[in-house]
Amino acid sequence: MGAGTVVSERGKKDLSELSTKKNRIGKIPMANSIVAASNSRKKIQRRSKKSVVISPVQKLFNTCKKVFANAKSGVVPSQENIDMLRAVLDEIKPEDLGVTPKMPYFRSKMTGQSPLVTYIHIFNCHRFSIGIFCLPPSAVIPLHNHPEMTVFSKLLFGTMHIKSYDWVADSPQPSSDTRLAKLKVDSEFTAPCDTSILYPTDGGNLHCFTAKTACAVLDVLGPPYSDPAGRHCTYYFDYPFSTFSVDGVAVAEEEKEGYAWLKEREDEPEEFTVMTMMYIDHQRMNVKYNK
Ligand SMILES: [Fe+2]
Repeated sequence: MGAGTVVSERGKKDLSELSTKKNRIGKIPMANSIVAASNSRKKIQRRSKKSVVISPVQKLFNTCKKVFANAKSGVVPSQENIDMLRAVLDEIKPEDLGVTPKMPYFRSKMTGQSPLVTYIHIFNCHRFSIGIFCLPPSAVIPLHNHPEMTVFSKLLFGTMHIKSYDWVADSPQPSSDTRLAKLKVDSEFTAPCDTSILYPTDGGNLHCFTAKTACAVLDVLGPPYSDPAGRHCTYYFDYPFSTFSVDGVAVAEEEKEGYAWLKEREDEPEEFTVMTMMYIDHQRMNVKYNK
């Protein structure tokens, strides 16, 4: 998603501060007796135990740092790393991130077309990004791509219709801005559900989200969008297969519904408005909201 391209030094600092918070063990007291030593050990153990408890967001950040340590265009993490990040995301709950359907982000603010979507920016660097999309009922994130990326998405709550495609490689094109794609998913999902993963060439690299109810989606991109690195966010219109007749492209009648022509949109969709909010501000607002 385009909103995920926002790079924020502030966002970096927030997580870096979290990541550098070491345990609080101070000086170990010199004990003159066995009891005192034992008490000290117990205290130290208690403090040590405390020090290893980290928040789910911190755990996610730490895991992303490992999983995307070598992230660059088209490089998919190892299966072991994919499983590790999937397991962390599978455990995350909306309350870990301070999002509930009652929050103002999930109320429809009509902008004339589609309800406003809020992006809560948690972190972004050149290797990965983490953020939450908050969609009021009937909000739409239009069909867009994730070039050369691996993307992990976790629906935190709500019911979402997802339509996704993958490009058909080396297919003749009706024009330079229109390509053939194979339908991957066209279904509704209701939380709690498994973390979904898309890859540079499969898994539904191009997708469109339509919120059936208020929805929150935690998104991890590795690597993130980057115009200088050639990973642009592009939006598309999809047309039924029968719209174009192209020499060298043949699909059996009963399979035509499984294909579509995707045409690049010249401009960013006017009907799609995203408000970006920093995670730290979301946390402050959350404290206020829950008072
Ligand atoms: Fe996306």
